[in-house]
Amino acid sequence: MLKREIEDGEQSLADPAFRADVLRGFGLRPRAIPARWFYDRRGSELFEAITDLPEYYPTRTETAILRDCSPEVAALAGPGRAVVEFGSGSSTKTPILLSAVAPAAYVPIDISGDFLRASSAELAAAFPGLPVLPVEADFLRPVPFPAQVADLPKLGFFPGSTIGNMIPHASVDLLRAMKNSLGEGAMLLIGMDRIKDTGVLTAAYDDAQGVTAAFNLNLLERINRELGGTIPLDRFRHRALWNDDRARIEMHLEAVEDIAFTIDGRSFDMEAGETIHTENSHKFAPRDARLLLRAGGWTPIAEWTDPQDLFAVILAEAQPPRLAP
Ligand code: AVJ
Repeated sequence: MLKREIEDGEQSLADPAFRADVLRGFGLRPRAIPARWFYDRRGSELFEAITDLPEYYPTRTETAILRDCSPEVAALAGPGRAVVEFGSGSSTKTPILLSAVAPAAYVPIDISGDFLRASSAELAAAFPGLPVLPVEADFLRPVPFPAQVADLPKLGFFPGSTIGNMIPHASVDLLRAMKNSLGEGAMLLIGMDRIKDTGVLTAAYDDAQGVTAAFNLNLLERINRELGGTIPLDRFRHRALWNDDRARIEMHLEAVEDIAFTIDGRSFDMEAGETIHTENSHKFAPRDARLLLRAGGWTPIAEWTDPQDLFAVILAEAQPPRLAP
């Protein structure tokens, strides 16, 4: 009874954008739902678990690179900048950068206010004396910075290869939006995952313990929970495949037999073998990464990798406006 009430409550509180994306996504061929809807509470917990998996190399590799390169980043960025993190900064990576850079302020930006407030409080406690100024905003749009940091030079921080979630067209838009928001003289420290052995890549997105499968399937659970869906979860399987032409890992949910279900009272059916495309994770060869940054208005000035070149951290500066080639 209580459970039912909670579920009803969640259903009525469902984000209208989630509902719209899901209903539209199930109507597309191939079907597709934006990856950002993975991250409800359960999805965020599962992602945290993914970052600890033996197969999931990106988090520990990027963390190690940041430990090594942060002093150099600090020297190249110089003193007095505001560090602006795109995403709520709940990771262990942020303190590594903040300790080295000793910034004038730290500004995490996220669309999810709850997460933002929790991680901001933690960081403020760990860095007494550092102004921590969270901004709840969509960073695809101009960011409304607090007056305290408006005139400070900025160092943007975008770790995790989150940029790889977007198709190149959208990632260039995002890089340009970041450049416009961060203003003149800005720098950007960005993590980008490398193209590598296909077996290593696919294992990172299809781990032996099935945590990534649970992360992917949680999207269907979320649809059932929040949108009153009747999707039979046990009739789907997790697929992770390398799309070599587009240099990306794709995650899909594949129907294992013909099925019919409803979402928000609407009927859908899927044939055995049909999939829902749930995520892209683009990977970047060294020149791919630098070209993408340049296309987005940023000039790469330094780059660090791990000994196996699994992952890259790149420091770039905002391109000044120019008229001639
Ligand atoms: C958080 C987008 C960087 O693409 O590697 C991990 C998400 N998906 N395992 C990634 C993810 C499946 C992750 N990013």
